[in-house]
Amino acid sequence: MKRVFSGIQPTGHLTLGNYLGAMRRWAEVDQYRADALFCVVDLHALTVEHDPARVRRLSRQAATLLLASGLDPERCTLFVQSHVDEHTRLSYLLECVAADGEMRRMIQYREKSEREAARGRSVRLSLLTYPVLMAADILAYGTDEVPVGEDQAQHVELARNLAARFNQRYGSTFTVPRAAVPKVAARVMNLQTPTSKMGKSDASGLGVVYLLDEPDVVRKKVLRAVTDSGRDVVYDRVERPGVANLLDILAACTGGDPEALSTGYASYGALKKDTAEAVVEVLRPLQQRHRELCADPGAVDAVLRAGAERARSMARPTVDAAYRAIGLLPAF
Ligand code: TYM
Repeated sequence: MKRVFSGIQPTGHLTLGNYLGAMRRWAEVDQYRADALFCVVDLHALTVEHDPARVRRLSRQAATLLLASGLDPERCTLFVQSHVDEHTRLSYLLECVAADGEMRRMIQYREKSEREAARGRSVRLSLLTYPVLMAADILAYGTDEVPVGEDQAQHVELARNLAARFNQRYGSTFTVPRAAVPKVAARVMNLQTPTSKMGKSDASGLGVVYLLDEPDVVRKKVLRAVTDSGRDVVYDRVERPGVANLLDILAACTGGDPEALSTGYASYGALKKDTAEAVVEVLRPLQQRHRELCADPGAVDAVLRAGAERARSMARPTVDAAYRAIGLLPAF
């Protein structure tokens, strides 16, 4: 059986982009077809200025939302990254095969370090080494496939390179993983600035649909989405990014094809209305289940405890093998 691993950062409230680009496939496809692990990567949330209490709260909320989205702890392993020491143990070894230059070339590092600097904050060293920790997350589990949105493909490519380099230098230790990016909704865009990704951190929040937004808030945000000049509904991601984004979202929510859907609309208004309702319907069962789970936080804790135990026992043999391969004396 294939091994699948993916993760999500508790740096903000989870978004429709997270759901359509990643989480939905984890719940609907990956946990059934593979030996799958899903991780709330809390250590990654410390790479930018953070509020400790908020990270803790968002970690629990992310885990709860993953369960609400349909992850079944009987079918997959759900856990919190900092509960399994193997990630940081392996990360250091991988830092010893990664090069400074390849870290600085990472698009997300460049974007996020500029954003931190623009806010007058110093750039944490961990922001630079973040993709190495992400590689450790993946490689510790002998992962074959990493289901992610498009923005993470470069990081998975780095994990591939580090695995291959380590294997070549120190002997075959890691499975070389590959990214699995969805065909539709690989990059859901911000509704107000459809040339940028719909991300968790958005100053106004108007362009971002959060998974816990009330139906009326979702409607308001989608109906106010920025569309392009022109009136006809055509699917063109370059010339008409606003309309294309709505078509992508509608297609992802209804299972259609964005280009084919475009022919059914004569105006932007009708497209927005249908898209808003489609999003509300996709979020409805998830929000209902989230409310139920919040009433029983002990059950979520129990899932995370069992998940961490299972993850630890899966990661330890690979990480121990890497310690031996790279030349460290085994502990007596
Ligand atoms: P994160 O937390 O930013 O996002 C989690 C997942 O959601 C996808 N995603 C999107 N997909 C489509 N459109 C969007 N607007 C959108 N926004 C987010 C992301 O591609 C991702 O799949 N570095 C990772 C977390 C991570 C990880 C890992 C992932 C840490 N270790 C190991 C896979 C394997 C991140 O920041 O994802």
